[in-house]
Amino acid sequence: MKYILFIPLFITSLLSSNLDNACKSCHLNIYTEYYGSIHATSAPKDDAIHKAVWDKHPNKDKNDYTCKECHTPNEVEKSISCVDCHTISSFKEDKIHNHNIKTTKEKYFYSADIAQKGKIQNFKKENGFMGFFNKSNGSPYHSIDYTNENYYNSKMCMGCHSHNTNDKAIDACRIAMPTTKETNCITCHMPQVNGSATSIKITKTHAYHGFAGVHNAPQMLSKYLEIKISQTKNGFDVSLHNTSPHPFLLQPLRVAKLTIKINSKKLSPILFARILGDEKNNPTMPWDATKVLSDTMLKANEKRSFHFSENLKNGDMVEAEFGFFVLNPKAKEKLELQNNETANKFTVFKSEILKIK
Ligand code: HEC
Ligand code: HEC
Ligand code: HEC
Ligand code: HEC
Ligand code: HEC
Repeated sequence: MKYILFIPLFITSLLSSNLDNACKSCHLNIYTEYYGSIHATSAPKDDAIHKAVWDKHPNKDKNDYTCKECHTPNEVEKSISCVDCHTISSFKEDKIHNHNIKTTKEKYFYSADIAQKGKIQNFKKENGFMGFFNKSNGSPYHSIDYTNENYYNSKMCMGCHSHNTNDKAIDACRIAMPTTKETNCITCHMPQVNGSATSIKITKTHAYHGFAGVHNAPQMLSKYLEIKISQTKNGFDVSLHNTSPHPFLLQPLRVAKLTIKINSKKLSPILFARILGDEKNNPTMPWDATKVLSDTMLKANEKRSFHFSENLKNGDMVEAEFGFFVLNPKAKEKLELQNNETANKFTVFKSEILKIK
């Protein structure tokens, strides 16, 4: 009996671990980008920060890995793979977090391409002259379904990214649904970049699979934050405009910082964070939180202005620098990640200079 159970499990695990390697041979650009992205390190064994947080979780002792649906959504408990995403057909809404609904058809992937919208390219191998060559329709390896609206409006991201809420109804994070076809999760985080999508059918560009974000390629997103410095009668104003449809940062572990310099003199920095805590007003891990202690993060589409009463004179240079830490320093200590390179990283996201003439 044991063996009967073991065999199908073994076969599925072989399949899942080989599938991404197969993609590599025909989608090298995308594969290379993807395996440098944070999705490809979503499992505890690949991400020290995720592991450190999981190690503190009360379910850890019960060996009940409650992060699985989003962090290792496959039989083999590996980080997110190509197939884990391209087989998502839709999602089911739920209070704590949503759930992905996947197709069970083999080698059947969903994708978006306006030129082919509405079509289904079925994987068909036709043997030619005595089996010397194979003719195929579209991709020689898989079927592609271009009819799924969720790949055009980016709702396919929402099974994992919509929200993650604890049993006291406090959100660890939350994003509103993407609404427009012109600006959505995909257009901002997976913009078209140079290089062919496949090695068989050559295209000029492909959708960036490094997933621009806090960890990777933040410069691709810097145009979505506007910084303006303007001199006023009694000093100067610095305004920040987050033009993205979600809070500037989402993970409660993060902290952003605005630093103002006049010539080379630094004024005290302004911090942006969303801090979760308990009834005694102590900061806690998201699962223990009963309330939001403070929330100074830039909200979706928010424009916020800061006034500085330092008087400026001709020749002065004002610099505003906006950036973020992956981990806020207190969480870093709590998680014992002081020596972790990523945990210590500060990214300068955007800066602006005003020269007084
Ligand atoms: C033998 C080569 C080959 C392999 C292996 C392969 N693909 Fe493809 N794939 C193609 C070709 C060729 C196309 C373009 C088909 C077309 O445009 O008609 C394509 C298209 C796609 C598309 C849709 C592109 C679009 O136009 O939007 C996706 C998604 C995709 N492949 C995913 C994968 C994944 C995931 C894997 C690995 C599990 C994989 N492919 C393995 C050759 C391959
Ligand atoms: C199967 C679940 C899942 C799906 C589907 C998914 N993501 Fe993610 N995403 C994650 C997880 C989990 C992480 C964090 C990975 C980690 O902890 O290492 C992440 C991280 C990210 C990040 C990086 C954030 C940072 O801090 O750098 C971006 C950007 C992102 N996802 C965008 C998207 C977009 C856009 C889509 C839809 C096209 C999408 N994701 C679909 C689970 C998912
Ligand atoms: C509903 C899906 C979902 C579940 C369940 C989930 N996560 Fe995540 N997690 C994400 C997404 C999406 C991200 C990407 C950043 C964001 O949106 O905040 C992420 C990012 C993270 C990060 C930041 C990683 C980094 O390197 O910056 C940590 C840590 C983390 N999750 C821990 C956990 C732990 C621990 C659990 C289980 C107790 C868990 N998550 C359960 C979706 C989920
Ligand atoms: C108008 C462009 C835009 C759109 C649309 C957009 N984002 Fe973002 N996103 C940003 C910017 C800007 C940041 C912050 C800078 C960074 O992460 O480097 C960001 C950050 C993120 C992060 C990292 C947050 C963290 O704390 O680690 C995730 C995850 C993310 N977005 C997912 C999504 C998802 C999912 C959608 C669709 C619902 C989406 N975004 C829609 C621009 C956008
Ligand atoms: C987090 C989810 C996610 C993961 C993981 C993912 N993709 Fe995609 N992929 C998408 C989405 C969404 C699109 C549609 C974007 C578009 O057409 O604008 C896409 C588009 C594509 C395309 C068509 C690109 C183009 O520009 O025509 C190919 C090919 C592809 N993916 C292959 C892969 C391969 C190979 C992997 C693994 C190395 C992979 N994808 C991993 C979400 C994902």
